Amino acid sequence: MEHRVLSYGSLNIDRVYSVPHMVRPGETMSSTAYNEYVGGKGLNQSIALARSGMKVYHAGAVGSDGEVLLETLKEDQINIEFVKQTQEKSGHAIIQVDDSGQNSILLFSGANFSILEEDVEGVFDHFESGDILLIQNEINCLKQIIDLADKKGMRIFFNPSPFNEDIFNLPLEKIDWFLLNEIEAQQITQMEVRDDDLLVSILKEHFPQANFVITLGEQGSMCSMGDKLYRQSIYPTEVVDTTGAGDTFTGYFISTLLETGALDKALDVASKASSISVSRKGASSSIPYKEEVEND
Ligand code: RIB
Repeated sequence: MEHRVLSYGSLNIDRVYSVPHMVRPGETMSSTAYNEYVGGKGLNQSIALARSGMKVYHAGAVGSDGEVLLETLKEDQINIEFVKQTQEKSGHAIIQVDDSGQNSILLFSGANFSILEEDVEGVFDHFESGDILLIQNEINCLKQIIDLADKKGMRIFFNPSPFNEDIFNLPLEKIDWFLLNEIEAQQITQMEVRDDDLLVSILKEHFPQANFVITLGEQGSMCSMGDKLYRQSIYPTEVVDTTGAGDTFTGYFISTLLETGALDKALDVASKASSISVSRKGASSSIPYKEEVEND
């Protein structure tokens, strides 16, 4: 069965500065290189889904400078009929990547926050029960998007990133799958728990209807569905740039889960794909194709 995934999310131009270390408060520092990439958590996850073989519809908004974002989606055969073009600036991110490949990201939402309720209604007219919705926290109208997807009987995957207090105003009881890192898991449960197993049980108490995928950095990842719990270690690699690695993981996890129904395989493939992503520069440009992941 071919699954249709509606990825309703951000599209950003990533302005990436290579730095010896993250700039500190009060410090002025020269960067050693500058590059522009196509990114945004929504766009990156759409590309990861498409490169892993899914039929993807991206919905969101870009500005008058957003042609490059649309072209990038089209190159991966992603349907862009639900991406609207506005007169304002597209979203962008100012990203510092240090010598160890870690990043820090400053976001400007721009067109990503220009979504109207009527846009959302128009998009959901084209989707139905059995379709999948994937969202992150970089666009507006999320409450309405979740409500409509739920009303349609769609399965909802939520990556609550970047985390902020607005997330608590969303109808989280309608989410089927949360994909989050350890810090986001602590933030959403409002509990600072270091023990992973305990963290999973607390998540289950808060959201008894949902399943969870938690990425744990160097410690790998874990997935909890009902009473099943799987763990996966990382595929070690040389870290060049971690930007987009989490998005790669999310896209590959969802597509492998939909394709095979096997949680352990989904974690394994996602982990392999994200390790390829961290060994390359950029966000969407670092996301591997399915063949590369299979042959790695
Ligand atoms: O997850 C990485 C992404 O976060 C970047 O591409 C940047 O645009 C921000 O949205």
